[in-house]
Amino acid sequence: MSAPRVSARVSGIEESATIRIANLARKLRAEGKDVISLSLGEPDFDTPAHIKRAAWESLQQGETHYTQSAGIPELRNAIAKKLREENGLDVVPEQVIVTPGAKYAIFEVACTLLEEGDEVVLIGPAWVSYEACIRFSGARTTWVNTSLENGFVPEPEQIAEQVGSSTRLLILNSPCNPTGAVYPKDVLRAVADLACDHDFFVLSDEIYEKIIYGGEHVSIGAFEGMQERTITVNGFSKAYAMTGWRLGYAAAPEWIIRGMLKIQSHSVSHPTSFVQRAGVAALSGDQSEVEHMRAQFERRRDVLIEGLWRLGMECPKPEGAFYVFAHVGRWGTGDEVAERLLNEALVALTPGTAFGSAYRDYVRISYAASIEQLQEALKRMEAVL
Ligand SMILES: Cc1ncc(COP(=O)(O)O)c(C=O)c1O
Repeated sequence: MSAPRVSARVSGIEESATIRIANLARKLRAEGKDVISLSLGEPDFDTPAHIKRAAWESLQQGETHYTQSAGIPELRNAIAKKLREENGLDVVPEQVIVTPGAKYAIFEVACTLLEEGDEVVLIGPAWVSYEACIRFSGARTTWVNTSLENGFVPEPEQIAEQVGSSTRLLILNSPCNPTGAVYPKDVLRAVADLACDHDFFVLSDEIYEKIIYGGEHVSIGAFEGMQERTITVNGFSKAYAMTGWRLGYAAAPEWIIRGMLKIQSHSVSHPTSFVQRAGVAALSGDQSEVEHMRAQFERRRDVLIEGLWRLGMECPKPEGAFYVFAHVGRWGTGDEVAERLLNEALVALTPGTAFGSAYRDYVRISYAASIEQLQEALKRMEAVL
């Protein structure tokens, strides 16, 4: 038998830290421990009923076969319409690919655009899977680390310093996981100017666009000169509480979509047929539950942030998404604090290093949990810290 050897490409990638901690919390729960999990990026609401009904009706009608690799025309049309009307992007259905989750769209973009020798600018702290996708493609990551003092918003000058002749792509994520920062329009405009001047692409991950508190979501792809160099990624997981359905999409110039389609058609083929019907219902149906969930997240944010400030944790009030990125240095590193809180308070958080090595004194706390759970978690944290 040949030696157990995974490829260098795969061995260079770490398991997702957020999933590892969630599994640990699940294990403790299976042992009968009352763990409060504030570690996963997953809305705790149920998928709205009309969306579930659309999937059920699709199944009843026998839509259980292969679809077009890029997605059913009705969904590509609905996505293009949404992007035109809500985001100001000049998109036709041929510039849209429907994917099994936004995560797979990001993976396809990395494999389509990047190769060895290319550099990708990542704004830290950054969602765990970006760096893994970059590494898998053979490209290198150049970090631009934001700070608590600036509300985790990057300075355009900081980005400019990291841009060079090998820069091929910059990844933006506003509202941001893990910080909840929403980048102001002038920062996005400065990034767009840099992209045009230095001829690189921008992947704009807008998956939290609907979970925003007061500010305005701006799509960088709508700025002048950006249409031909932006890949806008979005999905249904967060806005419609559809994480398990695995449905996302990307909009980009057609030549990029054709590249992504090659990967998709030879790997997963397409997202599940009846799930795509649910996606049409989500985009074209009643949006009131989206607003209801957003309002609940806002109330939870207020409860959590007040409690964390009382505990003495340093963290800006997030303006979007459902995470707080908190400095815990006075109690130890993020790893130490997360471990202690899991073992002694039965509260699961994610250490900051999952989002970039510069963030060893931080933890990410997800508030995709009920107010009662958040209050109980705060009580337990106070007792231990
Ligand atoms: C910033 C960001 N992008 C993408 C994703 C992946 O979303 P999906 O469930 O659509 O794959 C997540 C999920 O946590 C995320 O936080």
